[in-house]
Amino acid sequence: MTSALVTGATAGIGLEFARQLAARGHGLVLVARDEARLNAVAKELRATYDVEVEVLVADLVDRAQSATVEARLADRDRPIELLVNNAGFGLKHRFLDNTVEDEQAMLDVLVTAVLRLSHAALGPMAERGRGGIINVSSVAAFLPRGTYSAAKAWVNSFSEWAHNEYKPKGVTVMALCPGFTKTEFHQRMEVRRGDSFMWLEPEFLVKTALADFDKGRVYSVPGAQYKAIRSLTRVIPSAVLQRYQSMGRK
Ligand SMILES: NC(=O)c1ccc[n+]([C@@H]2O[C@H](COP(=O)([O-])OP(=O)(O)OC[C@H]3O[C@@H](n4cnc5c(N)ncnc54)[C@H](OP(=O)(O)O)[C@@H]3O)[C@@H](O)[C@H]2O)c1
Repeated sequence: MTSALVTGATAGIGLEFARQLAARGHGLVLVARDEARLNAVAKELRATYDVEVEVLVADLVDRAQSATVEARLADRDRPIELLVNNAGFGLKHRFLDNTVEDEQAMLDVLVTAVLRLSHAALGPMAERGRGGIINVSSVAAFLPRGTYSAAKAWVNSFSEWAHNEYKPKGVTVMALCPGFTKTEFHQRMEVRRGDSFMWLEPEFLVKTALADFDKGRVYSVPGAQYKAIRSLTRVIPSAVLQRYQSMGRK
């Protein structure tokens, strides 16, 4: 049984990754801050899928706590074959209305944790000549929508580079770019969650992502509506896109 480590595995997209990977027979290492929720998810996965599940309580904003996850990924005696860098959150306010500490914390989770966990995982994966990383980015990466978009653009650029760099070494790196998805993300931001055709179900999102990953794709953009948006962002001038950058924000 190969093992996968999923960050932000207690809710939303990460929880769905944990369930679908367990259904595929992967052992799991689940990472998040809330220990009680982690243990509840671990119990559910063991009972439903008969897989081994470890729990790692870590706040990825905290460098010392992140180091425990890095050490687990680098442990060559207990190999991790798939890393899903999924944990993340958005901020409710515009840049200057957030404290710089809140902005820094978001950058720490969306970018620094992805960098550090990938660094820890890629060495052993490249040595073994196999493995994979799925970085959960966002369709926002293709649009100029503040520091969240900027962080996700970093994730895309990093993933695209790492995909090409490590493919010859047997390691697949993919950026998953979800559009609006029905998770706790917007509730945590205190923003209303919609229910139109623009809102994806986590089950569909993750199923599509894993199918794209199996095909060795560098990007996964689930949903025809979001594939269309991605195509439009390639042809619409950035000055025009800029006018829509506040969409969905008060
Ligand atoms: N939902 C969307 O519409 C959407 C769209 C595009 C991209 N995304 C991206 O998808 C990813 C997952 O988001 P989601 O929608 O599934 O959100 P979610 O339902 O709010 O889940 C977020 C997960 O991340 C964990 N987490 C948050 N901060 C953390 C920290 N400091 N350290 C460790 N774990 C932390 C949370 O657990 P704890 O609170 O227990 O730590 C939770 O398990 C994020 O990277 C997000 O940017 C989401």
